[in-house]
Amino acid sequence: MTLKQPIIILGIESSCDDTAVSIIRNREVISNIIIHQTIHKKYGGIVPELASREHDKYLFSTVNKAIKIANIKRSQLNAVSVTIGPGLIGSLLVGYSFAKSFSIGLNIPLIEVNHIQAHILSHFIQNANLNNSFPKFPFLCLMISGAHTQIIQVNDFFDMKILGSTLDDAVGESLDKIARLFGFTYPGAIFLDKYSKLGNNKKFSFSKPNVKGLNFSFSGLKSQVYRFIQYQLKDNSNFIKNNIHSLCASIQKTISEILIEKIILAMKQTKIFRIVLAGGVSANNEIRKQFFSLKKKNIEVFIPKKKYTTDNGAMIALVGFLKFKKKNFVTIKPYSKFTTFF
Ligand code: KG4
Ligand code: ZN
Repeated sequence: MTLKQPIIILGIESSCDDTAVSIIRNREVISNIIIHQTIHKKYGGIVPELASREHDKYLFSTVNKAIKIANIKRSQLNAVSVTIGPGLIGSLLVGYSFAKSFSIGLNIPLIEVNHIQAHILSHFIQNANLNNSFPKFPFLCLMISGAHTQIIQVNDFFDMKILGSTLDDAVGESLDKIARLFGFTYPGAIFLDKYSKLGNNKKFSFSKPNVKGLNFSFSGLKSQVYRFIQYQLKDNSNFIKNNIHSLCASIQKTISEILIEKIILAMKQTKIFRIVLAGGVSANNEIRKQFFSLKKKNIEVFIPKKKYTTDNGAMIALVGFLKFKKKNFVTIKPYSKFTTFF
């Protein structure tokens, strides 16, 4: 009897402002490094050119570190998987070029990974969610990040259908912009989460957008908060300072309710009562609490562990693992083909 060799995959994520590298052995994470770029803080948002340069600066050393932590030799890697999009084109190119060269150098396959699919499928990393179990198919995924807000019906690993999307801002983008109004540095949503802990979430009420079906809209809420703040500051220049905790709590409550109402509608329409949260905003404590409470209604709820909510290389490596088993590789043309240019 031959023992089955484990599959070892290197995952590289560079679609935005995190240089993230991970190695998995089958579904188990054996190293996971995330370098958060801090250079953008002073600009209030991501500067794409700076993001690309930072990836370029840190990627090689991060890959070496990940290999060291995993305690493996490069030659043990079975494949390199890399984010192909969606994301910032310059940042993606840095990650992709590196991954391609690395795979050619080691003579192992290159696997392309969609960033959104990776967020969703991160639940299939060993012990990635609070249930410590894999969700069964089909399920509904609420994908909430800095750039996306979608409800996706997931029938199988690579059989997914978008049921609804934001018509304007993504929920993370909206939270980050509101946080900026309050004077928090980018990305500010995490501060809203922190400050809301001591606030009264009923102190201020904000109206919810009237968007039909399973689509979302968050730009109106952002403008509403902006106008409300400007109005209050006329009489009281300390209004934000004096009310920051309750402002944050009330905004988070409104956003959580919008998300819950939409997912309940999606469950009614599809008759699928199994929900999975994914994306950076699913790190939010209020959203996690609200979704967790759906369990009381006999709904299966899967909430990712915090380290797998925001961008990470493990989710890219996991999709790499799933595609490796299907031999879903990129065909790299031999360099001799370049001679056709001349
Ligand atoms: O998935 P992600 O890392 O990157 C994208 O694919 O966009 O998500 C980043 C987003 C940012 O908007 C960030 O502010 C938000 O996730 N985020 C949070 C929290 N932590 C990160 N939003 C709300 N509460 C948090 N605790
Ligand atoms: Zn992401």
